[in-house]
Amino acid sequence: MNHEPKNLTDALWRIYNRPDPPPLWQGGGNLPWNDPDFSARMLREHLDESHGAASRQSAERAAQLDWLWERLDLRPGSRVLDLTCGPGLYAVPLAGRGADVTGVDFGPASIGHARQLAERKGVGDRCRFVEADVRDYEPEPEAYDAAIFLYGQLAVFPRHEAAALLAKAAGALQLGGRLVVELLDPARVDKKDSSWWYTDDSGLWGDRPFLHLGERRWNAAEQTSVERFYILHLETGAMDEIVLCDQTYEAEEMTGMMRAAGFREVESFTAWAGLPLYDAAEWIVYIAQR
Ligand SMILES: C[S@@+](CC[C@H](N)C(=O)[O-])C[C@H]1O[C@@H](n2cnc3c(N)ncnc32)[C@H](O)[C@@H]1O
Repeated sequence: MNHEPKNLTDALWRIYNRPDPPPLWQGGGNLPWNDPDFSARMLREHLDESHGAASRQSAERAAQLDWLWERLDLRPGSRVLDLTCGPGLYAVPLAGRGADVTGVDFGPASIGHARQLAERKGVGDRCRFVEADVRDYEPEPEAYDAAIFLYGQLAVFPRHEAAALLAKAAGALQLGGRLVVELLDPARVDKKDSSWWYTDDSGLWGDRPFLHLGERRWNAAEQTSVERFYILHLETGAMDEIVLCDQTYEAEEMTGMMRAAGFREVESFTAWAGLPLYDAAEWIVYIAQR
């Protein structure tokens, strides 16, 4: 993602000559979660209780965990697979309730935090955290009673990868097991083109002064939101370019994909069925049963 232009002028010409709109799925279409420095900076955001942008705040997670525990029919001894588990903020409390949890994520700082948190909470023996790309990870077949894929992460993959991930989750569940997938409600997605900029001394994009230039485009044909960020590191002239795609799905399409992946029943809940989350209205939660 780092283009190391020779100087600021190179960086500005690169921005000037950018393709508009940004090519879909350029560079993978995801944030650089697995870059160690980015991962360390992102961990601060996950743990920052003043906002819910990376992980929801603890009171909201508690409400979600109660809801998930009941809807997934979990009990002590249930085996749960948490795909894109982040720093373990769901996995560890689920283990605290007696579940045996496997969390998979490719963010090194997040996985490190999840392991430490599990030890600190005395549930290290009921948690296993795997640092891996979920697309490469091969779960043991039919080894789980439930799987969770929260906070919209299935949408950062193109359709064919999302379909493969759903099939993988189905294969990991025993018959009757349930998968929860949280996806943006397409009716609520911002479809207006926009652009913005800001400067900061340090933050998610770097620990030294940077200029962030961002733009968002809606690709109507593919029903995909595309954001492109240019991060200009002011002391060095180095520039990062990141394209983040969010594939949206109408409920019928997602339900069809889940059935094609091997799930018999699919229920959907708009706005988290009324749970008091700050952004509940943005989401549809699917529960698919094998
Ligand atoms: C918005 S965070 C949500 C984390 C967690 N589910 C939560 O709500 O606290 C998205 C997570 O997805 C992970 N992720 C994104 N793409 C991934 C991939 N291809 N393989 C593994 N993890 C991925 C990131 O590292 C990050 O931890």
